[in-house]
Amino acid sequence: MNPDINKLQSYPFEKLATLLHGILPPAGLPAVNLAIGEPKHTPPAFIAEEIITHLHGLGHYPATRGSDALRLVIADWLQRRYTLPLMPDPEQQILPVNGTREALFAIAQATVDRNKQPLIMMPNPFYQIYEGAALLAGAEPYYLNTTAATGWLPDFDAVPEAAWQRCQMIYLCTPANPTGVVMGDAQLATLIQLAERYDFIIAADECYAEIYLDEQEPPPGLLQAAIAIGNTSFRRCLVFHSLSKRSSVHGLRSGFVAGDTQLIKNFLQYRTYHGCAMAPYVQAASTVAWNDESHVRDNRRRYREKFAAVCDILTPTLDVSIPAASFYLWTATPGDDTLFARELYARQNITVLPGSYLSRTCQDCNPGHHHVRIALVAGLDECTRAAKQIRDYVTSL
Ligand SMILES: Cc1ncc(COP(=O)(O)O)c(C=O)c1O
Repeated sequence: MNPDINKLQSYPFEKLATLLHGILPPAGLPAVNLAIGEPKHTPPAFIAEEIITHLHGLGHYPATRGSDALRLVIADWLQRRYTLPLMPDPEQQILPVNGTREALFAIAQATVDRNKQPLIMMPNPFYQIYEGAALLAGAEPYYLNTTAATGWLPDFDAVPEAAWQRCQMIYLCTPANPTGVVMGDAQLATLIQLAERYDFIIAADECYAEIYLDEQEPPPGLLQAAIAIGNTSFRRCLVFHSLSKRSSVHGLRSGFVAGDTQLIKNFLQYRTYHGCAMAPYVQAASTVAWNDESHVRDNRRRYREKFAAVCDILTPTLDVSIPAASFYLWTATPGDDTLFARELYARQNITVLPGSYLSRTCQDCNPGHHHVRIALVAGLDECTRAAKQIRDYVTSL
């Protein structure tokens, strides 16, 4: 066996299952799961219809680089979404992937040079795939603490020179899971300059980019920031996007990676061997999904409605505020976060995710401690009812 497999931590939801094992919540209270970030809004019918229409394509091997139509629609979407002065090259700068998770993992395997004491940076708290990808690529994960004091953003000034010199890749998560914080253009530009100076890749996980609060202020992206500082070829920059949150079709397994031509070329070669071409009917469904905005606007409206209702109920019992983006509430807990989550489940049958399951202790600080992530994925009524129960639970402490 690959000994690095033993370095992988159990997934946050396995830890949660262990934490809650054996507890019998009150039978009269219906269960509400606000722990898993799994959208529950009904997927748009036109996406499902497109799958059905294209099922006859099962008799063909799909190309790893995807259909011309899909890559063109993605390039066009990127240009529209980020008001780019030029369209990314659909031939050389776009690759469809089977959801961002597999691509975020695979990119480390495809790019890391194991012979140079590689280090991969990532925010802390973080999406655990980044850490697993680093470990299995033979790199050392380097955690960038994000705390209330840093506005839940990484502080690049605090990173020592020696770490930058070993850095081969950095994962960004913007908008961030679990905090919903968005990285601004200026910080993105600073990071691109650091990547130039120290020669590392920026892998920006932008899978929550389409779930934002203010319709007039969509979160900025890495490609946009690159162009703004004259890096028009997206050198060292890759963005990862998904239909999972945008269109509530996480079962479809569809996303894309875009950016630096050379990196995309090498990644395509890696993926050809890996054997992860997207099924033809998924490509067809993805093409229509990236081409439609009205269902996404409706999706955002529904999350906005839930945030407003839930924050109204939880304020001032908990310190909550509506995040700039994502569908998570990230809130401080009175006392230990695992105890909070366990007792909330035991007394109210509501599941939330302890923040410490999403973070590591680094420089004597575990930024997830004393926080929980509440995913507003259930329907409005369920979320509202759950918020009242959380409020009652906290009041009773
Ligand atoms: C930060 C982050 N990145 C990536 C993913 C993976 O999403 P998908 O593979 O469905 O695109 C998730 C899923 O929850 C996530 O929270």
